[in-house]
Amino acid sequence: MQTVNSISAVRQQVATWRQAGQRVAVVPTMGNLHAGHLQLVERARRLADRVVVTIFVNPLQFGPNDDFDAYPRTLSEDSIKLQQVGADLLFAPAVDELYPASQGGQSHVEVMGVSEGLCGSHRPGHFVGVATVVAKLFNIVQPDLALFGEKDYQQLQVIRQMVADLCFPVEVVGVATVREADGLAMSSRNGYLSPSERALAPIIYQGLVAAATSIQSGERDFRRIEAAVQASLKQVGFEPDYFAIVNANTLKPATAEDRLLRLLVAARLGQTRLIDNLPLQLGD
Ligand code: PAF
Repeated sequence: MQTVNSISAVRQQVATWRQAGQRVAVVPTMGNLHAGHLQLVERARRLADRVVVTIFVNPLQFGPNDDFDAYPRTLSEDSIKLQQVGADLLFAPAVDELYPASQGGQSHVEVMGVSEGLCGSHRPGHFVGVATVVAKLFNIVQPDLALFGEKDYQQLQVIRQMVADLCFPVEVVGVATVREADGLAMSSRNGYLSPSERALAPIIYQGLVAAATSIQSGERDFRRIEAAVQASLKQVGFEPDYFAIVNANTLKPATAEDRLLRLLVAARLGQTRLIDNLPLQLGD
């Protein structure tokens, strides 16, 4: 696996693959890779001839009180893992390479609709940062397809909407969340949890499962379920930002007519903000 830091080096390498008629996939990440990321790379290898992984802790998507400085940076370990799963190219640019000082500041991409509400309300500017960096990475790599984890479900919908609205010739593939044995969704931020917090953390997944089970048993008062799960999370020490039952495509609050739902949660446990979600398809 080759590692490059410059935009021109990525373009040069990808151009040779394209000339050979090869399909290229990109897996954008912020590094500190876990089994969930490696699953994206493995899936990409099955869907494309060449796999580019990007590692870039994107300052634009962190708010002033977020964990940009603390975010784990583990490039050498990540590089070994990527070699083991057969990535072809690692693009790990410095901040200046992606955001050189430009007259008037960095232009940005704002995705309407699905960016609003949920994490969009609790992390103002976050999805502008995500959409902007992903648009840049798409323009740099020019991939045929791009893979993202469903753990960040709102992010996945934002990127899908951006690709549709701005006509990026990129197929976006969502990959199911990888979980620890106790149900906790894998995340680079799980490393912030103290042992006692780590023991409590799977409760957010249990809340999702309990809500899904209640809906499957016929409960259709979604707002009541949301309030009940939030209350139970608070009781055991979480500070929930939201627990929401939404239409899986629009991310608007689900109604009794919706068939394809997504149950989403974001909650703080001590200093750590955890997110998770589950799909739910209703019968008739
Ligand atoms: O999900 C992430 O790791 C990041 O939000 C992404 C998509 C790599 C953009 O910085």
